[in-house]
Amino acid sequence: MQNNLETPKEITKEKSKDCCSNDESCGTCMKGGFPMKKEALSFITLIMVAATTMLSVLLINEKRANLSSIVLDSKSDVGSVAKTYEMPAVKSISEKIELPTPKITGKMSVEEAIQTRRSKRVYSEEPVTMSELSQILWSAQGVTDDKGHRTAPSARGVYPYSLYVVVRNVEGLESGLYLYDSESHTLGNLGLANAGELLAASGVQDNSQKAPIVIAMAVAFAKTAVSFPDNPEEVTFLEGGHIGQNIYLQAEAMKMATVVTAGFDAAKVGEILGLDKNETIVYLVPFGHLGVEVPAE
Ligand SMILES: Cc1cc2nc3c(=O)[nH]c(=O)nc-3n(C[C@H](O)[C@H](O)[C@H](O)COP(=O)(O)O)c2cc1C
Repeated sequence: MQNNLETPKEITKEKSKDCCSNDESCGTCMKGGFPMKKEALSFITLIMVAATTMLSVLLINEKRANLSSIVLDSKSDVGSVAKTYEMPAVKSISEKIELPTPKITGKMSVEEAIQTRRSKRVYSEEPVTMSELSQILWSAQGVTDDKGHRTAPSARGVYPYSLYVVVRNVEGLESGLYLYDSESHTLGNLGLANAGELLAASGVQDNSQKAPIVIAMAVAFAKTAVSFPDNPEEVTFLEGGHIGQNIYLQAEAMKMATVVTAGFDAAKVGEILGLDKNETIVYLVPFGHLGVEVPAE
């Protein structure tokens, strides 16, 4: 037993004598490797660690460069699209119609409206009154202070949405197409008397074919691009959701019916309503009194 334990010690000592002046300065021969001084081994280890670190840094940097070029590419793609956006032409308005002053108190709490809100797609024959029309438009884009802030939030206060109103059945208002003016809380008559029929014939959903009014929420991305040149679409679409929810909650509080709809051909509907090619309809929002759904036979 004793012999077995001593043998490796002796061999080691012999090896160290071959290569190094003493045991303690030998870096490798004690482990059976190539004879080398400890200082030389430390130096080589240091070089290898430094080389590996440099290589890793180079690889990470290259990966980062690739990633940022992808981001830059996608940004410059959107940027170049954004640069092609143009402001829509100013609409020619034949007549301005005053809307009744909207109410800012009601019978239903906001909590109750949130609790009971549902999309409702069937509307009765009952005409919408001017007060109801005024109220729903105000909830969507009305001005609520003397700085021009509106009922729905807007990134950097750009307010890129225009509300076009297809009127089919509103008490005391000719059928046609109107543009809501938030600042003056008026409707501008765009003079398209058969807008309701044109919309119905354009293949939009049943709810927008029959509702007494349909609000076409249109955006001009050029307006948002002034403040958000890299990605004007993103904030613009987000804002559409806020406006849509205001309409939903206001309709609920009035015990009326509405649904936001995105399932239509925006280019086609824009064209039949005579909108500028630089405006895009994001939502069609039919609105009216709640109708009774006829069960399918
Ligand atoms: C972005 C978006 C697009 C929608 N598009 C349509 C649509 O094209 N047609 C439709 O009937 N409802 C549409 N809706 C309404 C949803 O169908 C409805 O919100 C969903 O069925 C949930 O029902 P609720 O609104 O009663 O809670 C849309 C809703 C959102 C948020």
